[in-house]
Formats: sequence, C-alpha cells, structure tokens
Amino acid sequence: MTYSGDKVSFLVEKFELLPHPEGGWYKEIYRSDEIIRQQDLPGRFQSDHSFSTSIYYLLKDYDFSAFHRIRQDEIWHFYLGSPVKLYILKDGKQELIMLGDNPEAGHVFQAVVPFGCWFAAEVSIPDSFAFLGCTVSPGFDFSDFELASFEELQRDYGAYSTLIRRMTRV
Ligand code: GUN
Repeated sequence: MTYSGDKVSFLVEKFELLPHPEGGWYKEIYRSDEIIRQQDLPGRFQSDHSFSTSIYYLLKDYDFSAFHRIRQDEIWHFYLGSPVKLYILKDGKQELIMLGDNPEAGHVFQAVVPFGCWFAAEVSIPDSFAFLGCTVSPGFDFSDFELASFEELQRDYGAYSTLIRRMTRV
C-alpha cells in the first residue's frame, strides 16, 4: 500500500468491510425490508428478492474486481480515491468507463452495468485505492452472481484476451 494506507484501514474498520469473492472489499449497507416474489420477477431470477440493496465497495493495493455477471443492472457510484476503470463486455465488444471525480477528464460519478454483461474493475493508478458504492434492484443474492472463467470469455471476447487473462481468477 504505497499511500493513503491510514485512510484505507480507517474505511475497512469503520464500515466493517469484508473480502468479496470477485476481489475487493465490501459491506452491504442497505437491504429493503420489502420482498418481490419470484413469480413477479423476470424468469431469470430463481428466488424471492428484496426490492433493492446497496453496498460499499473498496479496491485497495493490487485488488481488482474479476470479470463476473449478475442478473440485475448494477449502478456503480464513485466516492473517494483514484479513478476506476470499469470494463464491460457487451455484444462482442469491450466498453471502458472511467469512474472518478474529474468530469473534465471524462470521469463519471455513476455508471450502469446492464444485467447479464460480464464486467470487471480496477483502479487506474497501480497500488492506490478507490471507495465506491454499488446498487442493484431487485436486491443482490449470491445465486445471481457468476464469476467468469478465462476460457468462457475467450470464446466470445478473444480479441481482448490480455485483459481477460489479467482480470479472471478461474
Ligand atoms: N452484495 C454482495 N455482493 C454484491 C455485489 O457485488 N453487488 C451488489 N450490488 N450487492 C452485493
């Protein structure tokens, strides 16, 4: 951790962040009390879901969020730290969104990852940190979450194999 180590430790302790299976650290901070029944959701959902959930999400050191997908649109919010590269694989192409706090440099404060798209994220400055939020509706359930293997991404997105190799773990 080359800089801001104190701030990062503070955030981890203050918000009780835990390691996420995709990489990075998170804490769910909102889960609606109300439930949508499975039969009232689109067919891709396999269980009842909360209306909505949101998490804090931290990337630190050399962490990255490995390519994964979920069954609902996910809204990312930038709060603090280095700009973050958000990679989305969609319709055979790679899209890159810069989350950050400098709109003049092309950063956005919020970005939406469409449901079903593979996506990954990393800080744009090596060994720095970023503190973000992620909101989904219907609410998050680990049954909606799938980590990508290099081989399966390679089939449809072979043109981006360097990125895919670097940002998959399985
Ligand atoms: N809860 C646990 N993991 C996640 C995640 O990756 N995204 C959202 N929105 N909520 C979560």
